[in-house]
Amino acid sequence: MHLEILLESPVHTADIGIKLSRILKAGDILLLSGELGGGKTTFVSGLARGLKLKEDVSSPSFTIINEYINGKLRLIHIDLYRLEGEAEFENAGIDRYISKKSGIVCIEWGEKLEKFIDKDYLKIDFKYCPDKGIDKRIIMINWKSTYWDRKIKRFRKIIRKKEGLL
Ligand SMILES: Nc1ncnc2c1ncn2[C@@H]1O[C@H](COP(=O)(O)OP(=O)(O)O)[C@@H](O)[C@H]1O
Ligand SMILES: [Mg+2]
Repeated sequence: MHLEILLESPVHTADIGIKLSRILKAGDILLLSGELGGGKTTFVSGLARGLKLKEDVSSPSFTIINEYINGKLRLIHIDLYRLEGEAEFENAGIDRYISKKSGIVCIEWGEKLEKFIDKDYLKIDFKYCPDKGIDKRIIMINWKSTYWDRKIKRFRKIIRKKEGLL
C-alpha cells in the first residue's frame, strides 16, 4: 500500500515529519531512501521537533548513529551512507537498535538494509521533482502490514485536517 505527497518546500517537508511523529511509538522503524539532498534529514529534523527534542538533528553521516533521549520518545537516527553489506551493519550494531524497541528508529539510506531486515517498517522514498521546481520533492510512503495501515489512516486524517492536502 502506498501514499504519495508533494512537498512544496523544506519547511513543508519538516512539517510532514512533525505530523508523522504524532502517530509513532517506540519500536517503529522508518527506512528513508532517495538521493543525497532528497530531504531525508530535513524530514527527520521535523520529526524530532514533533517529539519536542531539545537539540537540532543534523545528518549523522560521520557518526552513523545518533541517539536523542530528551524528547517525548527516544529517537534513534541512523545513516547508512558509508556502510555496505550485512557484516558492516552488524559491526555498527544496527540490528541491536532495531530490535530493542527503545525508541523510534529512522534510517537514512535505509534501502540498503531492506533485504536484511525481518521487522515490519515504513518505507519513505524521497524524489526530486525538477519539473515542478528546485525546492519541490515527492515522497512515496510504502508499507505492507495492517499495523501501518491503521497508523497511516490516522496520519492521513492529520494532514487532511490541517492542510486540505491530498
Ligand atoms: N521540498 C524540500 N524538502 C526538503 N529539502 C528541500 C526541499 N527543497 C529544497 N530542499 C533542500 O534540499 C536539501 C535537503 O537536504 P537533506 O534534508 O540533508 O537531504 P538528505 O538527508 O536526503 O541528503 C536541503 O538543503 C534543503 O534546504
Ligand atoms: Mg541526510
